[in-house]
Amino acid sequence: MREVTIGLLGCGTVGQGFVNLLKQDRFRPLSIGRILVRDLCKERPGIDRALLTTNAIEVIDNCDLVVELIGGVHSAGAYLRRALRSGRDVVTANKALLADSGRELFAIARTSGARVGFEASVCGGIPVIRAIEHGLAGDSIESIIGIVNGTCNYILTRMEENGADFDAALRLAQERGFAEADATLDVSGADALQKMRILAELAFGAAHARVRVHGIDDIDREEIEQARSRRCVIRHVASARRLPGGVELRVERRELPESHPFAAVRDENNAVIIRGRAVGELTFVGKGAGSLPTAAAVLSDVIELAGRRRAAVLRANLT
Ligand code: NAP
Ligand code: HSE
Repeated sequence: MREVTIGLLGCGTVGQGFVNLLKQDRFRPLSIGRILVRDLCKERPGIDRALLTTNAIEVIDNCDLVVELIGGVHSAGAYLRRALRSGRDVVTANKALLADSGRELFAIARTSGARVGFEASVCGGIPVIRAIEHGLAGDSIESIIGIVNGTCNYILTRMEENGADFDAALRLAQERGFAEADATLDVSGADALQKMRILAELAFGAAHARVRVHGIDDIDREEIEQARSRRCVIRHVASARRLPGGVELRVERRELPESHPFAAVRDENNAVIIRGRAVGELTFVGKGAGSLPTAAAVLSDVIELAGRRRAAVLRANLT
């Protein structure tokens, strides 16, 4: 692999995990040029302060590949448009941006010949995007159902196992870096819907979607205890399925028997069951949020895109 310089936008929970993973010797051909942050004075253990800047253009215009880990729609969108228009590959974990402007960003990428990696945008460390795009490319997906928000699952587990109330459990999820900067996106179901939109678009293509969303923001201990008395647990479940004339997307909390596979999914873990016409049911379980699992998914995209650049350079040299 030839030397690839990464322009890193954001150095928070995931960005710091990414920088730390990159320190391994085997990733030496990948180096970080500059890192965009808002606050140059913030404590960032293990991060070389000399790389930090508040100038986004400086980061984007002086790298081979952009990794976007700032979140949100407006600034992140503007930066990725600039990177893609200049032909730079980008990697993002930003499902809010993809749900909002994904089609436009992919259209810019097609025009300029750049690529977009977004494995980390859904289910953190679980390679569910690759599974749908590559592993299941020969099958026809009928439905996807899963726990796709780590914060909600963490809150429900803490309420269930430790008797925590909702606010205390949410605070713990925030302290551990699982929640979005605006945690209402997590607990309202919006984040899970964004992720299901991304999976549904990959699995079913662009189709009219009928949507129903309910979060966990109005749950209380009483509901958890009543479920327990019926030997059940509450899980926040998102689903997508084909219907005649479109796709149905649902995000809702469900009372599931303790024997259900989702009942064993605890803390920030996620689980996704994909049903393919030929392959039947495939189940993926793993860490759906958090610094290192998410950073590992980001890095897997970077490695793949850097490898493709290398192949393109080799091909160009041969012709
Ligand atoms: P975070 O901890 O809030 O970090 C965001 C970083 O971006 C911070 O370093 C912040 O700078 C910087 N930033 C934000 N807005 C900026 C702006 N307008 N200009 C310059 N810098 C800006 O967020 P995170 O948890 O790492 O999440 C990053 C992205 O990954 C989000 O899209 C999120 O949805 C996604 N994601 C997160 C997880 C997770 O478990 N946390 C999992 C999967 C996907 P300062 O540090 O100076 O404030
Ligand atoms: N806030 C998100 C979650 C991060 O809790 O699932 C991972 O996308």
